[in-house]
Amino acid sequence: TDARSELLQPCAQAPAAPRAKVSVVGAGAVGMACAVSILLRGLGDELALADLDAARVRAEVLDLQHGAALARLPAVVGAGDLSVTAGSRLVVLSAGARQREGESRLALLQRNVAVFRGLVADAVRLSPACTLLVVSNPVDVLTYAAWRLSGLPPARVLGSGCNLDTARLRFLLGRRLGLHAESCQGWVLGEHGDSSVAVWSGAQAAGQPLAALGGDPARWAQLHRDVVAGAHEVIRGKGYTSWAIGLSVADLAESLLRDLRRVHPVSTLARGLYGVEADVFLSLPCVLGGGGVADLVKIRLSPDERARLRKSADTLWAVQKELRF
Ligand code: NAD
Ligand code: LAC
Repeated sequence: TDARSELLQPCAQAPAAPRAKVSVVGAGAVGMACAVSILLRGLGDELALADLDAARVRAEVLDLQHGAALARLPAVVGAGDLSVTAGSRLVVLSAGARQREGESRLALLQRNVAVFRGLVADAVRLSPACTLLVVSNPVDVLTYAAWRLSGLPPARVLGSGCNLDTARLRFLLGRRLGLHAESCQGWVLGEHGDSSVAVWSGAQAAGQPLAALGGDPARWAQLHRDVVAGAHEVIRGKGYTSWAIGLSVADLAESLLRDLRRVHPVSTLARGLYGVEADVFLSLPCVLGGGGVADLVKIRLSPDERARLRKSADTLWAVQKELRF
């Protein structure tokens, strides 16, 4: 008899299958920040990491497993191919190239569409009931690509989109007003990136409409420019962004896995809304639940905001229409 059977009397016939398995495909700086944030929120009952770099993923798994006793982590597994992701409820796609200093997100398109062509169909074959959460850039166009390549209904394919830009805006707004970011509300919508749109008409701080607080509208507009510049500033300093996107993805994962019906600005199919005519994915406030995007919130935009959102959609369409499947 071995030590295990000396200690334990077996009862169950077979180990229970995980019910809330989460996979992260692409275990680089962003994928690992997502993984750690998801684990520390106590989400999921198994976490799988997949990355082309099998040695690295083995090391990342081991490094996390070493913390199991310290943070009550669930099972963490990983491999150099997607087989390890089978049976997931949520698949986070964070594989592919990242921007170099000064490069735009849209410049990554060709490289990362090629990565997605090799990944998405297999990921969905292995986890037919999953929701896909796209993080790789350019996130909006890659969410469209993932939707096309997956054959899933649009509700089950979303991009992390402007959930991060909105968090950046709330932080900056809070810093300006002397409040915590959580007490400041406002949406950034459209492209995750340089053509995003801050919806000042609905912004609030401490429950008060920002418009009623006075102040120079140009100074609020500067906050949005700081949101856009913020990612470039972090990339200049450390080569990539990771912690805020990891926290943002964990926030989305919580709404999806716990069926919370919280509203997040995430990249979704926008055809037919706000004058968008093509199959463009961009961020709109979405109600997220167990089945992915449950509803879209019909927000009231000023004529200027509406025009900017249309322009952001046009920017994305100009890039997206060159894609062939
Ligand atoms: P990284 O280079 O650290 O990691 C990328 C990982 O992807 C690498 O480990 C690589 O081996 C892996 N990979 C590449 N092709 C693969 C494949 N076919 N299958 C499995 N794994 C594969 O890069 P990063 O900093 O983690 O960034 C990842 C992506 O996330 C980039 O596209 C970046 O622009 C994007 N990003 C998005 C946001 C957002 O808000 N949406 C924020 C930050 C970064
Ligand atoms: C971000 C990445 C670079 O942090 O898209 O905004």
